[in-house]
Amino acid sequence: MTMPTSVEEILSRYDDRAPLTDASTIPAPWYVDARIAELERQTVFSKTWQMVGRLDQVEKPGQFVTAAVAGEPIVVVRGSDGALRGFFNVCRHHAAAVVTEPCGQTSILHCPYHGWNYGLDGSLKGMPEFDGVRNFDRQQNGLLPVRAETWEKFVFINLDRQAAPLETFLGGLVKRVAPLNVGKLDYFDTRTYDIHCNWKVFVDNYLDGGYHVPHLHKGLNSVLDYKEYTIENLDRCCLQSSPMVASGEDQPTATTRRGDRAWYFWQYPNLMINCYQGYMDTNLVIPVDVDHCRVIFDFYFADVSPACHDYNQQSVAVGDVVQDEDQGICEAVQRGLKSRAYGAGRLSVRREAGEHLFHRLLAEDLKAGASRTAAAAD
Ligand code: FES
Ligand SMILES: [Fe+2]
Repeated sequence: MTMPTSVEEILSRYDDRAPLTDASTIPAPWYVDARIAELERQTVFSKTWQMVGRLDQVEKPGQFVTAAVAGEPIVVVRGSDGALRGFFNVCRHHAAAVVTEPCGQTSILHCPYHGWNYGLDGSLKGMPEFDGVRNFDRQQNGLLPVRAETWEKFVFINLDRQAAPLETFLGGLVKRVAPLNVGKLDYFDTRTYDIHCNWKVFVDNYLDGGYHVPHLHKGLNSVLDYKEYTIENLDRCCLQSSPMVASGEDQPTATTRRGDRAWYFWQYPNLMINCYQGYMDTNLVIPVDVDHCRVIFDFYFADVSPACHDYNQQSVAVGDVVQDEDQGICEAVQRGLKSRAYGAGRLSVRREAGEHLFHRLLAEDLKAGASRTAAAAD
């Protein structure tokens, strides 16, 4: 019997100091070993800002959205005072989820289990049949807060009380997205995809600098000037952009993907924002387990009036085709990563700088997380 390989050994197989010309991808076990997925949950997803909803869902007092971040049930709610607050969506009585709808509007947060009530500010307002309970301080039994902040049209939370503010985390992304005026767009629809691959396979696929576009996405390729595709790494963000060509041969793609340039933003670890003229979609990649992820696409358009309904639907359908093409390849990659035939791969210098950035940022977080765990165990 051979000893099972340790997490430290698996992490040490990636050299995060290698320049792009010499770099390899993160090794296959990072995509298939459940211990790495758990380490990611404890480090990456418990310490980064995670998008949990849209600003338009929490504009009015009492409006809320729920989400799960790193397995933690979360609710974000707009207070009567106009403040936006995040909480662990966990009842202080016996731990039921207090808010059970994905989103909505309410005047009180009412636990469905035994009827405890919390205010929109998280304070415990009332507990049925709780007379005679000694040493119970209502003030100390409100919902536990979690940090919530907004940027552009999006709501984020961070489980880490020590984390830098959202804008600091987003860094260079903020200035790059600002000129695109995404605030003028309105939410139209959501598509959710459950994919049989590790979440990082989906991110890698997104960050290959258009490498796969001519081969996998014939329709999309017909509107992009592939040779002029640019890739720019900022601190925790990669901006891919391509000039567009008017003579798109694929009709549905040509009519729904317009403008001078396509903009594809990725923000570490799991958020993508894609913009064309009058169009934006966001992709949020949520790890389910080491072998599965869920990707949520939110579509926004310049005009969401009934007159534009068919056009917007056609545009979402074009996104669906691209997503189908990506999904098939991501699932094939996940199977390949488990093969004894594969250990790690090399990166195209022209195309795959974004993946290189992703892998280095991830390695930094995982290695720091593993040494914290090791220090705690000593
Ligand atoms: S668990 Fe919420 S009231 Fe009992
Ligand atoms: Fe793709």
